[in-house]
Amino acid sequence: MELSDKIIDESIQGEALMKPSIIPNGKKLFLESYGCQMNFADSEIVASILINKGFSTTQNFEEADLILVNTCAIRDNAENRVRQRLQDYKRVKKNKPDAIVGVLGCMAERLKSQFLEQEKLVDIVVGPDAYRDLPNLIEQAETGQKAINVILSKEETYADIAPLRLDKNGVSAFVSIMRGCDNMCSFCVVPFTRGRERSRDPESIVNECKDAFNAGYREVTLLGQNVDSYLWSGGGLKKEILSEEQKANSTTFAQLMEMVAMVNPDLRVRFSTSHPKDMTDDVLHVMAKYENICNNIHLPVQSGSSKVLEMMNRGYTREWYLDRIKAIRTIIPNCGISTDVITGFCGETDEEHKETLSLMEEVKYDFAFMFSYSERPKTLAERKYKDDVPEEIKKQRLTEVVDLQRKHSELHTRKQVGNITKVLIEGFSKKSEDMLMGRNSQNSVVVFPKGDLKPGMYVNVKVTSSTSSTLIGEVIN
Ligand code: SAH
Ligand code: SF4
Ligand code: F3S
Repeated sequence: MELSDKIIDESIQGEALMKPSIIPNGKKLFLESYGCQMNFADSEIVASILINKGFSTTQNFEEADLILVNTCAIRDNAENRVRQRLQDYKRVKKNKPDAIVGVLGCMAERLKSQFLEQEKLVDIVVGPDAYRDLPNLIEQAETGQKAINVILSKEETYADIAPLRLDKNGVSAFVSIMRGCDNMCSFCVVPFTRGRERSRDPESIVNECKDAFNAGYREVTLLGQNVDSYLWSGGGLKKEILSEEQKANSTTFAQLMEMVAMVNPDLRVRFSTSHPKDMTDDVLHVMAKYENICNNIHLPVQSGSSKVLEMMNRGYTREWYLDRIKAIRTIIPNCGISTDVITGFCGETDEEHKETLSLMEEVKYDFAFMFSYSERPKTLAERKYKDDVPEEIKKQRLTEVVDLQRKHSELHTRKQVGNITKVLIEGFSKKSEDMLMGRNSQNSVVVFPKGDLKPGMYVNVKVTSSTSSTLIGEVIN
């Protein structure tokens, strides 16, 4: 499954409640998000900034005065979806010439002013570090000028802005703990669209988690492109210039997670994404120590071939990766493990592709996001290597990877039939309003009859049957 497939279904529009101190400006905002969880978290910052300026929100773009789309640039098809969506907004502009259309996020950052030239209907282009400037840019656009701010920052973490929660369930919240990425994986556009890595003040993170808990949330997911690289050294000093002593006095990801776990035992903690080259055992030990830190790790492998991994500039080998899996299995025996895989990277041979399949056989992931390689402008791979695996081979390899993963997912869910598993209820199941759905610690989706239960409650469910992606069961007392 493509990440963006998952995401497109979850376009978010919130009905915001206005604080009494805010003076309404009578204008309606429609805000839609594509891409990763970090983009969704950013949209909550954007919504917060604009609600404070008097906007109200709408779920219907046709009645909006301001349409904002938070975009993703990770693969070509992610960008194509946004371009298609812009066609829909053209309709609004026809009926309402004063309506303003703004493009935010990674695609805005990648294309910069080109966006304004290519897509005539776009009025505003804003990169991920410039959201504080949105009210000014909107004002500028209202006078009929095009407005753009794509300046990347080395400091911005939006730490002081309380996000306006736009999720649908009121149970699980995303909390950004860092921004940017310094890794330069050769296939990846993120370092160009999100800039340098920087960590957010742990105190503001813990406070945000406390606020979420007090507002009824029962799960937080700590977000960063490489959470294991989180390091806060007070005063926002850059990691590169820290002395060994300063580093020793800094807050690491393991320590941060412990601080968040202690907010309340009823607040579940998840995190994403771990990087195999940086994931240390102390993170695993903290996970094992706290019942409310979920036993689930997303550890993207990308390829099972050390040669391909080297060309990808991932900083680890197949052996190193498998050693990390062994550490997880030893320290957290019942841990759900998921991954990301790319098929058909530059120069990937049949043998190397088979190494990915054999690694998947060895690990038997619970779940995977799988993609065929999409060359991105300006990346290391685009400059250094030829995108020489034919499209149909990329797709064929992707099918093999997807089929194998389906088998493994089925194996995992089937193994859980008969078990009793603790579930945090998130809402109705997709198929029926008589059934509720939630997740267990390992992140498996569990579906069961509604009874008198409500989202946000924890229940024990006895698993009676399964599909490849879902556990079905009954609540027991
Ligand atoms: N920071 C995370 C990944 C973020 S991007 C990490 O390092 O693991 C999410 C996933 O998109 C990546 O793990 C990768 O599998 C996929 N991806 C990124 N760039 C891609 C590209 N150019 N083509 C295909 N898939 C890509
Ligand atoms: Fe991209 Fe690599 Fe950074 Fe992940 S770690 S965001 S794949 S550069
Ligand atoms: Fe896409 Fe940007 Fe996230 S490119 S995956 S929205 S960091």
